[in-house]
Amino acid sequence: MSRSVRLVPACTSLLVTLSLSLSFSLALTACSGGGGGGVQGTPGGSGVRDPYFPKAGNGGYDVSHYSLRLDYEPDDEQLSGTAVVTARATQDLSAFDLDLTGMDVEEATVEGEAARWNRVGQELTVRPGDELDDGETFEVRVRYSGTPQTLTDPDGSEEGWLPTETGAVGLGEPNGSMAWFPGNHHPSDKATYDIAVTVPEGLQAVSNGELTGETTTGGRTTFSWHTAEPMASYLATVAVGDYKVSRSTAGDVPVYTAVAPGQVKASAKVLARLPEVLDWAETNFGPYPFSSAGAIVGGEDDAGYALETQNRPFFPGAPDTGLLVHELAHQWFGDSVTPKTWRDMWLNEGFATYAEWLWEEDEGGDTAQETFDALYDHGEETYEDLWAFPPAKPTSAAHLSDEGPVYQRAAMVVHKIRQTVGDDAFYDIVQGWTAAHRHGNADTDDFTAYVEEQAPDEDFDAIWEDWLYGDGKPGSP
Ligand code: TRP
Ligand code: ZN
Repeated sequence: MSRSVRLVPACTSLLVTLSLSLSFSLALTACSGGGGGGVQGTPGGSGVRDPYFPKAGNGGYDVSHYSLRLDYEPDDEQLSGTAVVTARATQDLSAFDLDLTGMDVEEATVEGEAARWNRVGQELTVRPGDELDDGETFEVRVRYSGTPQTLTDPDGSEEGWLPTETGAVGLGEPNGSMAWFPGNHHPSDKATYDIAVTVPEGLQAVSNGELTGETTTGGRTTFSWHTAEPMASYLATVAVGDYKVSRSTAGDVPVYTAVAPGQVKASAKVLARLPEVLDWAETNFGPYPFSSAGAIVGGEDDAGYALETQNRPFFPGAPDTGLLVHELAHQWFGDSVTPKTWRDMWLNEGFATYAEWLWEEDEGGDTAQETFDALYDHGEETYEDLWAFPPAKPTSAAHLSDEGPVYQRAAMVVHKIRQTVGDDAFYDIVQGWTAAHRHGNADTDDFTAYVEEQAPDEDFDAIWEDWLYGDGKPGSP
């Protein structure tokens, strides 16, 4: 392990001893007098106690901005990066963690000064030379390099950094972003981003937000992307490849799509409907929450699923219209209104799935009621686990994305609300909800309280008890 040595003299012997053990926090306690200012800080937490991913995120600070400079060489899968993270301390801090897995850390600085750092599992612990005061804004800079890891998440799917035929794609739900940049990787800490990616000339590098620059020198091209609206780190993406890029508009919103050459033909028709889908979604869910839109269509084998990466969802191969509707609906439900914890996942998937039902209804296919009834009567033929657990209480991290309970049954919860209040009130509630938490975070309690507040004459107790929190198949539709 390499780390820069800038020891406070009084702590030297203790730290040398402990650098061989895993107990970095013990060293911090023993040395906390050495940090400068009057108040003694303590280390920030190594997680934010998410019910499903206790190590995800970190305590003691709040990130406002990530500035990432990445250089990727697809031939040998080498990524080198510099991450500058701007954050505000939420306690006096002697040290704090970032989440990063794999990669070699070369240097860490805090406020421009070399900092000590240490790594255990996904925790990169940074100890600034001067302690940080509660409320202080600071900049931590990390230089790192290596071959980023492909991670297998608890449900068995692959995320993190996924090499493709001509490049790679970074996908981060729920934990994958820590494979390609150090950060506070929990959905509760949203931030703005600048992501600059340098790749061999001739390849494209696509990310979130808007393209603000593209320059080529010495056979390498740098694409600079800016995300002005807050983003959860699991929605950050970088896609490197020989994409065919198209630009258009949807109303006032610029649209940037990048499509793998083998998928151009198959996706032309569905992508042409993107403006129409956004317009439809605005009518139902409220104003589009971001300043640009688009899609990234990779090869069919690039990933095992589509993901609602902010502004520009990723699809492994040409999507059908239903999937496009689903991922675009996530821009409201998940990307703009983001879960506070991974337990609140049904708020993402239930609404994105219900959007598919509504689209089908509005296109003259089955009504949402018909979809609901078919699921209720024999849905377990398609989704074996439909009644296995309630949407708001997944049994474990491995089941967070189970389509039966977390997508379909959660959409049934949304439909029960619509049945209860009627269409006019339902759309008011949905639009009010996306407005109330626009660019923020919300959890299940926020949602149920909001619905009750908007429809004070209705009784939702049975819906919450049976459909949202109750075990087994609810008694009557
Ligand atoms: N959110 C994605 C979608 O429905 C699916 C997905 C990909 C997912 N990776 C995940 C869901 C990890 C839960 C956990 O569009
Ligand atoms: Zn989804």
